Formats: sequence, structure tokens, C-alpha cells
Amino acid sequence: MNEARPVLVFDSGIGGLSVFRAIRERLPGLPLVYVADDAAFPYGDWEEAALVAHIVSLMDRLIAAHDPAAVVIACNTASTLVLPPLRSAFAIPFVGTVPAIKPAAERTESGVVAVLATPGTMRRDYTRELIRTFAAGCHVRLVGAPDLARLAEAHLRGERIDEGAVLQQIAPCFVELGGRRTDTIVLACTHYPFLRDVFERVAPWPVAWIDPAPAIARRLETVLREAGVPGASPESPPPGRAVFTSGSRPPPPLLGVLAGLGLEPG
Ligand code: DGL
Repeated sequence: MNEARPVLVFDSGIGGLSVFRAIRERLPGLPLVYVADDAAFPYGDWEEAALVAHIVSLMDRLIAAHDPAAVVIACNTASTLVLPPLRSAFAIPFVGTVPAIKPAAERTESGVVAVLATPGTMRRDYTRELIRTFAAGCHVRLVGAPDLARLAEAHLRGERIDEGAVLQQIAPCFVELGGRRTDTIVLACTHYPFLRDVFERVAPWPVAWIDPAPAIARRLETVLREAGVPGASPESPPPGRAVFTSGSRPPPPLLGVLAGLGLEPG
């Protein structure tokens, strides 16, 4: 019945491509539209009520334009705030991206974990509640990095970034505490997996970096099955479209990244 309806993957910028990539890998035949709300980037700096109103009204227009079968909010800063209003405003399923605190708490051996997020996600009650519920036995350092999403955007757009500036942003995650030290860091912003190579190069010591993207792709598969949406066909993936709310054309290096993910701007 819903054969041609795409799944919309949404973020404030191009960070949600880390989730898009995992969805493409798991559900290769699924029609996808990627939306970067770059006109409003970065969400991490927005005041909460204004961000809710902005996303709900934008989503209304996006749903009217694309008639998606489901929406993936590939953004922690948005998901930790707007999932309940979106679910009550629209009848289609929403899959969110929230900080992977539970898997980090299960994995840590030292009991010292960091959550590397945007300033918005760091402030959310939702994030603090996840820590209370799933990581009460751990020492959790919650870090809201003010510039890291911008640095990741620049990196994906092919600009040179200052690795010293990246180190400055992630340094508060590295905690030494009574002979124990951070061994697990949650990538709690979908932009950050694109900087993972840099993180590994500049990190004061090796840690496990937790990227929730594969878990989100699995969750989407379940949600689509439960909603009776036809899943992937085994044929070659249909080309996806990448929509930028600013209307600006991506620079050539980003076009290359998009093409590698089967996305055309449009
Ligand atoms: N990619 C977004 C996230 O996962 C946030 C970037 C921003 O501040 O807009 O939180």
C-alpha cells in the first residue's frame, strides 16, 4: 500500500548522514529522503521552546511535501526535546536518536564514562534522566562541546580543521579518578562520528567510542515492520534526495560524500 513512500531522515545539518549511512547498509532498498535544516544550524545553541516550535512547523511542511512513511530524527539535540510533540502532532512513526548511555554503562570496565554532546543535549532533563536510570553506578562526565558540530560540518565540507581545536573540545571527557579513568565515550551528537579518526589521533588515551547509528537502523526496521511498511527490495537502492533548507548548493567535497551515500541534492 505504501510502496513508494520514503523514510525521511532529518537533522540540523549533515551529521545525520552517520545515521543515514547505517540505514542504507541495513535496509538497502528503502526509499530515503535526507533533510538538513542547515538554515537553522546549529540546534545546540537554540532555546528549547523556540526549537520545539521551529521543528514542529518545519515537519508539517516536510510531511506535506514528501508524504513519508516514517521519520528518523537523526539528531540528539532535537530528539531529546521534540519527540513527544512530534508524535502527538503527526500520525506517522518517529524514530529518535538519544544518547547511548545504557550501552556505555553496560560496556565500561573502569566505571568512568563520558557523554560527548551539544550544549543543548547536555542541558536536557531527558539526558540527565537517562544517566540516572541507566548509569547510576558509573561516574558520568556530561560534556556539551560548543564548537564540535561546526568543526564536523567543516570537515565534511572539505575544509581543513584544526586538530588542536578538536582536542580542546573533547579534553573534558578524559577523566582520571582515584586510579580509574574514562574508558568509554558516547558520541551523543550525530555529527561526531565523522570526526572519529581525528578523535582517535588526538585522544590522550584510547577509549571505546559508542556510535548509536546501527542501533537506530535496527529500530527503524522494527518500526517499519510493525507499521506494515514494505521494507527493502533486494534490487539496487533507489537514489535518495538530500534537501537543504537554506537552499544553498553543497560544495564539491560534500557532493562527493552525498554521492557516496547514493544521495543527490534536490
Ligand atoms: N547532529 C545534532 C545532534 O545529534 C546536533 C548538531 C547541532 O547542534 O545542530 O545533536
